[in-house]
Amino acid sequence: MIILKNAQQLDKMRAAGRLLHDIMQRLREVIKAGETTAAIDAFAEEQIRRHKAIPSFLNYRGYPKSICTSLDDEVVHGIPSDAVVLQEGSILSVDCGLILDGWQADSAFTVPIGQVSADKLELIRVTEACFFEGARAAIDGNRIGDIGHAVQALAESHGLGVVRDLTGHGIGRSMHEDPSVPNFGTAGHGARLRAGMTIAIEPMITLGGWRVMEMDDGWTIKTMDGSACAHYEHTIAVTPDGPEVLTLPGFRFDGGQA
Ligand code: MF3
Ligand code: CO
Repeated sequence: MIILKNAQQLDKMRAAGRLLHDIMQRLREVIKAGETTAAIDAFAEEQIRRHKAIPSFLNYRGYPKSICTSLDDEVVHGIPSDAVVLQEGSILSVDCGLILDGWQADSAFTVPIGQVSADKLELIRVTEACFFEGARAAIDGNRIGDIGHAVQALAESHGLGVVRDLTGHGIGRSMHEDPSVPNFGTAGHGARLRAGMTIAIEPMITLGGWRVMEMDDGWTIKTMDGSACAHYEHTIAVTPDGPEVLTLPGFRFDGGQA
């Protein structure tokens, strides 16, 4: 069941999105070679609590940390650890969620650690572009498949792989609501998008194939072929005026449709 949000509820999600955006910006500044992923997690949790919000990942189905930190061939859900020291040449995906005043926000980005290969930089750039292509299709009257089609078309035009086993999702009072938002699909197919829907769009794009596997820790997902993966996610609202990226306050889509 898809839960539509009214204007007051959307305002609360805007506030949660704005706070998460601010915290993600601060996280970018502490990510560097020599830092442990546990230290980045501790910083994130401290920032979230300082602003009277709740880390939504912590204890979610037993997840032990407040963020996910996924390196190179790790796709998502890497668990921050004192034993993982960031090394130049890697790419790191950071995924974080919070609850403010009962309302959720969820966002992720991938950054290079120091100098990285040109193909990894291109992977990060295209993954972000895939998000924006998908998000600009999130218009009242369109369908879920229009989002996935837009993401997949751009990724595959660059010869990149689109992870299929994990998807975006509706979001609101719960982190995961209907509908599921795949990063692949057929234009014109799937559930109808309506103003008042709030969804997380989160392309996971690889330098190789789409197949993934779960590690023995029960969380970390890696690419099957060992290729590097990037992840980029925002919480968005479908509004009468077009898509609004709640975790990127002030962002405007260019071009006609929004
Ligand atoms: N942010 C992830 C998502 O987009 C969820 C993280 S799983 C958790 O669905 F266990 F870490 F919370
Ligand atoms: Co998400």
